[in-house]
Amino acid sequence: MATSITVEGENISEIDSLLEISSQFFEMVPVRKMKWKDDEAALLLSNPELQKHLLLATVKHPVCVKFPPSLSYMRSFMKLLIYKLESEDANICDEMYEAYTDLLSGSEEDDETLCYKSYRMPSGDCISLRESVHLVSQGTTGLSTWQAAQHLAEWVLENPQTFTNKCVTELGSGLGLTGIITCKSCQVQSYAFTDCHAQVLYLLSKNIELNLLHSSSSSTLDSGSTDRDKKIMRKIRKQLSLSSEPQGSAVSDIEWGETSQTDDSLSMQLEDINDDGIYSDPVELDVNASVWDIDSSHRLATFKSDKRVSISHLDWECVKGKILEKLKSDIILAADVVYDTSIIPSLVYVLKILLDPGSNSNKKPQAYIASTIRNEDTRDAFLIAIGNEGLNYMVVESPKQQRFHYDRSVPIEILQVSA
Ligand SMILES: C[S@@+](CC[C@H](N)C(=O)[O-])C[C@H]1O[C@@H](n2cnc3c(N)ncnc32)[C@H](O)[C@@H]1O
Repeated sequence: MATSITVEGENISEIDSLLEISSQFFEMVPVRKMKWKDDEAALLLSNPELQKHLLLATVKHPVCVKFPPSLSYMRSFMKLLIYKLESEDANICDEMYEAYTDLLSGSEEDDETLCYKSYRMPSGDCISLRESVHLVSQGTTGLSTWQAAQHLAEWVLENPQTFTNKCVTELGSGLGLTGIITCKSCQVQSYAFTDCHAQVLYLLSKNIELNLLHSSSSSTLDSGSTDRDKKIMRKIRKQLSLSSEPQGSAVSDIEWGETSQTDDSLSMQLEDINDDGIYSDPVELDVNASVWDIDSSHRLATFKSDKRVSISHLDWECVKGKILEKLKSDIILAADVVYDTSIIPSLVYVLKILLDPGSNSNKKPQAYIASTIRNEDTRDAFLIAIGNEGLNYMVVESPKQQRFHYDRSVPIEILQVSA
């Protein structure tokens, strides 16, 4: 979709790059990696009216004002823009400097651990997610959105019919991009988000509330933002600021696994901040009871505003009770869950149970697993484990349209797996 812009009464032809830059900014694509189409960028930058449009499409866009990217990201973006303009000797509009100085005077306390990333859907609507600015934090990879989730979401957008009237369960949902896009763009019968990490599940619940709450229920959301919510959010930020790896460094050696990088002193600091009246049992969901119906086990919660949607605590390495029975579905989705050879056997065991058609062989569940192939050995270990469990797989055709702006230098593959 292009944006039509009128300058001095004239309709300047469709400027795709304005939307492109805006979408990259929303997703917080590192400023140095942003793609500018040179001729259009030059046009944008040379014209003060277009510069204002660029501000309105980025730092001043209503979505970014309401759900801002990190302050340091916005500052770097504005710094780059002004640098580009100055090096072109362009006539720079006052608003450009004003926007930059506003950002420079922004409070650092507006934390640099959690931010919002927004992903534009084909309709033009945005999904805004609360994410950590760090790729690995709190000993989990689940607090930011990974390339495979974006890739799988692109595939879902091109194949909505696959999900019509289907019950879907997602494994290792992380912050929910794939699932939220599936719920918004497909006629699913139900969607069960699952993960094993308490803080991932908490932020996931917030992201679902933010994006899937029906507008008629927005008053429920307002009343739902409790003091407890604020306290939990403060605690997550505090913990993140103590334990995060800077973005970028974490991926350099990326067969990471869910390592906990807490050393002794960090553990002590974490104990301190745990002493704040927020008790968190790692297997119990800590979601807002005015927005979610929580079952008696405290491991499963149904979204009151849209009963099709649920969240469950599910740890593949410690599958207890009847939870897997409750999660049996027509379709299993998972993105970026194949990276640690030590958890592959448990993941494949869970897949095998969920894919078992039982007595109803007409209704064979299918899994779609999107993986970034960082290491061929890990991929092979997964394929061997699938084969050993008697499961079949085939590679699915990749999405045709590149909608999101993730790093495509490492291949991503979607496998369809069935019994
Ligand atoms: C790399 S992240 C991917 C998150 C999300 N699917 C995405 O692509 O953005 C891996 C996810 O798997 C979850 N995970 C890791 N080990 C798990 C386990 N044993 N049981 C359930 N979930 C697990 C993590 O909490 C994390 O959310």
